Amino acid sequence: MKSFSNSKMLLKKSNQYLAAGVSSNLRLSVKPVPIFIEKAKGTKMVDEDGNEYIDYIMAYGPQILGHSHPAIVRAIQEQAEIGQTFGAQHQGEIDLAKRIVEFVPCVEKVSYCSTGTEAVQLALRLARAYTGRKKIIRFDGHYHGWNDTISTKSTDEKNSISYINPKVKPATNGQCEEALNDIIVLPWNNYEVIEKTLKDHKEEIAAVIMEPVMCNSGCISPKQGYLEKIREMTSELGIILIFDEVITGFRLGLGGAQEKLNIKPDLVTLGKAVAGGLPLSVVGGKENIMDLISNNEVVHMGTLNGNPLCTSAAIASINYLANDNGRIYSYMKHLVDHFVLELEKLASRFELPLLVNKQETVFHTMFTSEREVTSYYQFQQRNKSMFSRLAELLLLEGVAVRPSGLWYISTEHTKKDIESTLKIVEKCFHKLSKEYK
Ligand SMILES: Cc1ncc(COP(=O)(O)O)c(C=O)c1O
Repeated sequence: MKSFSNSKMLLKKSNQYLAAGVSSNLRLSVKPVPIFIEKAKGTKMVDEDGNEYIDYIMAYGPQILGHSHPAIVRAIQEQAEIGQTFGAQHQGEIDLAKRIVEFVPCVEKVSYCSTGTEAVQLALRLARAYTGRKKIIRFDGHYHGWNDTISTKSTDEKNSISYINPKVKPATNGQCEEALNDIIVLPWNNYEVIEKTLKDHKEEIAAVIMEPVMCNSGCISPKQGYLEKIREMTSELGIILIFDEVITGFRLGLGGAQEKLNIKPDLVTLGKAVAGGLPLSVVGGKENIMDLISNNEVVHMGTLNGNPLCTSAAIASINYLANDNGRIYSYMKHLVDHFVLELEKLASRFELPLLVNKQETVFHTMFTSEREVTSYYQFQQRNKSMFSRLAELLLLEGVAVRPSGLWYISTEHTKKDIESTLKIVEKCFHKLSKEYK
């Protein structure tokens, strides 16, 4: 049995100086204790108690090249020698933009920020400025960062149309409720609901924003034809379609979800896997929308925007991923296919109701009696505590996975990692099946 005494001691100490003892609330959900990491390399993390983990959290998505990949380390070291941030323009911004324009179908021009939250803020501002309208449609269960203007408490309702339903609630205390006055929350993957809302309120709606694949809630794919119909209708009505690809960008392939699904939004937000672990995010899209920034109609600021340390890491990461026509994505996908198949076999052996949704290099596992989960409502009916217990058992045995059930694969994961993980999963499934008899 692993000891977590140093992590426990550090959390206590951390609580004296850091509010909550962690730097993002989500990290508090790690059991038995939010672990303190000493170092990480490739697919392995080592905590302050000397425990080693095969890592599938991958920093919640950014580490698509694993930890401390030589290509990223080299790029950062070289750049650090010649300057970390200038508050002025540099070649790296252009080189990175060219790569993004080359790979992400909807992008003609980009603008840089540091986090996904900021990128979403900018995309919404551009959409409102471009259309001269105010209202934004978002979907229950999708996550677009923690900004006051977009963050909503999940409604958990089966088929809510909350535009006419006063239950659009802030996600947290301290949030400005009025900031959500122009937000409409709809259930995703239900075309009738959005069709009616778009028809009824077409003159007020600036944008529809969504994760094109609902990665934050179950890695759920859009239903056949759903995105196509939304694309068609938003185009017809002059409404901006924003794909929030902070997770899916450079993860579902070089062109993200939009390339995989063959739907071009007007704007896209990218973050996480775009910069190999450094804080850089991107808004990209049609030139005539992005040029609102050029014309100074839309203000976009940020001291650290596009800093060379981050752009150098992003260029190194994209170059590595793009090698040999992005062949590494097929490698990762095959690994996931094999891993998921074996997980499913193990689950059925232990009679555990496991459902897996996979999307190329990321997948979600949940315990549910449903054979297919296509809506946030169904997703919410899963047995959350059972999976969270599995995540705890796995951590105790040396596998780090998010308690929510999302697994990230990197270019550095190997068949050997998967085999070792499966042995541990077998042991944990055995224990879990006894506990949940
Ligand atoms: C789809 C999506 N959009 C936006 C964000 C916010 O990004 P950040 O945490 O970098 O602010 C996230 C973060 O998980 C996300 O998954």
